[in-house]
Amino acid sequence: MDRIQDFIRGIPKAELHMHIEGCIEPDLMFTLAKRNGVSLPWESPEALRDAYKFDNLQSFLNLYFEGCKVLVRKQDFYDVTYAYLVRAHADNVVRAELFIGPQTFIEKGVPLSDLIEGVLGAFRDAERTLGISTGLIISTHRHRSEADALTLLEQIMPWKEHIISIGMGGAEIPHPPSKFARFFAVCRARGFRTCIHAGEEGPSDYVRQAVEDLRVDRIDHGIACLSDAALVAELVKRRIPLTVCPVSNVKLGVVPSLDVHPLRDLLDAGVVVTINSDDPPYFGAYINENFLRCQATLWLEFEQVTALARNSITASFLDEDTRRALLSRLDAYCAEF
Ligand code: ADE
Ligand code: ZN
Repeated sequence: MDRIQDFIRGIPKAELHMHIEGCIEPDLMFTLAKRNGVSLPWESPEALRDAYKFDNLQSFLNLYFEGCKVLVRKQDFYDVTYAYLVRAHADNVVRAELFIGPQTFIEKGVPLSDLIEGVLGAFRDAERTLGISTGLIISTHRHRSEADALTLLEQIMPWKEHIISIGMGGAEIPHPPSKFARFFAVCRARGFRTCIHAGEEGPSDYVRQAVEDLRVDRIDHGIACLSDAALVAELVKRRIPLTVCPVSNVKLGVVPSLDVHPLRDLLDAGVVVTINSDDPPYFGAYINENFLRCQATLWLEFEQVTALARNSITASFLDEDTRRALLSRLDAYCAEF
């Protein structure tokens, strides 16, 4: 076995970009559909797996929102979250900051309290049984209105202490970050850290708007920034992290293949770049598989793998003491290996 592959599998890492409603494994999706009397447009888990072929972000989102229909009760949110955390723990994820987008579920009549309490219950149990640290990011939809986002913000306020950040995802074009300038200003004024998907399918200017107009703490994806050297310099100077999802980018046709993925260029430019899985069953790769494929294709050395894992912990929204403890754990692992 190649030593660097073992090193990747074992290195303590944080996952900062993963959507809970995007991590329903096909078998679990069918179990939940049966439990809730929901009919799915696929005959079997295998047929669902066969449908994982995407032309672009929208074609993926269509399937993703179809799959969301099986999440109805508190127990469903618990089950999918806990299953992911068990899987992530096996990849030596020590900190998981996970998105969920409540707007999808609220509009179908799912009580927000069931959604949030289901997820938080899984977080508590996984922290206790697996020792994994968790954080919840509430994701809003950019294809909906700013007023909708502001309404959601009011609805989640009772759980403010349990929410580490407010994010935004969904169909990127033609919904520039500037459309949500007021919303993000309100989030910041209320003390939330913020992040937004930008520069996935959209242009570098969307990343610039996220930095300058929204003043977010992290950019999700952000790979389009490379076409704007001044913007890259700004990201480096201000140490604004990018949560990059390499296999997702290939599966959604954002980059033609992994060997031309800009991850290595971003790293070499000094950007605080991290590797993440986005929606792992849909793209066929959890976080270690993302690392392994990038290592093999982009010829990452031990030094780069370490930098990527270190960045993931540095870029997390952890309190300073825990962050330092996890960085020490990472250093001890590297020294020992
Ligand atoms: N929601 C889940 N995955 C997403 C992605 N890759 N881009 C935008 N929104 C998403
Ligand atoms: Zn995403």
